[in-house]
Amino acid sequence: MSGNVGITRLRPAPTTTPLDEPALVALYPRADRPHLRMNFVTSVDGAVELDGHSAGLSSGPDKRVFGLLRMLCDVLLVGAGTLRHEGYRGLRLDERRRAWRREHGLAEYPTLVVVSRTLRLDPESAAFADAPVRPVVLTTERAEAPAGLADAAELLRRGEEQVDLAAGLAELHRRGQHQLLCEGGPHLFGSLTAAGLVDEVCLTVAPMLTGPGAGRITAGPTTRPHGMSLRHVLAAGDELLLRYVRE
Ligand SMILES: NC(=O)c1ccc[n+]([C@@H]2O[C@H](COP(=O)([O-])OP(=O)(O)OC[C@H]3O[C@@H](n4cnc5c(N)ncnc54)[C@H](OP(=O)(O)O)[C@@H]3O)[C@@H](O)[C@H]2O)c1
Repeated sequence: MSGNVGITRLRPAPTTTPLDEPALVALYPRADRPHLRMNFVTSVDGAVELDGHSAGLSSGPDKRVFGLLRMLCDVLLVGAGTLRHEGYRGLRLDERRRAWRREHGLAEYPTLVVVSRTLRLDPESAAFADAPVRPVVLTTERAEAPAGLADAAELLRRGEEQVDLAAGLAELHRRGQHQLLCEGGPHLFGSLTAAGLVDEVCLTVAPMLTGPGAGRITAGPTTRPHGMSLRHVLAAGDELLLRYVRE
């Protein structure tokens, strides 16, 4: 396991000394136009979770990049299943990361955007009740909101029966929120891929075989394959942190 070992770069231009924070930030540039970045961790044999949660696959270096990507985004997009299952907290950043955002002209906190068709969401859960900025729930015209949800979050309705992800993301872009980070889960990733909306995938490969049982990082109806181009390979011990962008 990689614990808290330093992160080095294998490609391009290998480094021998561990990358510091500014060097890591430079490896995950913010786009100057609408851009959707996915972030996942998987085992060597392709599992999306261990004992039901992604935390079982994640190590110190993965958590470090996970936090860094949150610092860099305007919007954190997440499927309602992952929000419920992983027990998301309010999207708070420490003072150092908030200072970095202020210095770079960003809002102090990113906005949490939850995708849900059914609106089976608890407005009293920490993700809503402890949110530093009012979250957005991207849903359909028809979905009935449980009591209190419309107070806890903005309901952004796009699509009649199914959420129109392209229209929802276009509305976020219209608000000036261009750099979107999506932390999954698999069904949301599958839908975003099907809609042709994924620009980048950051993937941590945890040095583990977990055996059959767990699903993959993507789920849902099959889609046409798209080529991806490798931008970097980072290593932390036996763990790899890959960044691919859409060709
Ligand atoms: N390895 C990793 O990096 C990673 C990352 C994230 C999650 N996970 C794991 O993945 C598992 C959860 O998988 P999942 O596929 O259930 O996650 P998910 O995609 O976050 O959740 C599915 C739910 O999200 C909403 N949703 C997703 N796509 C939607 C769409 N296109 N339109 C409308 N609503 C949409 C729906 O919520 P409603 O039911 O409210 O309509 C749907 O039931 C957990 O075990 C979690 O630990 C792993």
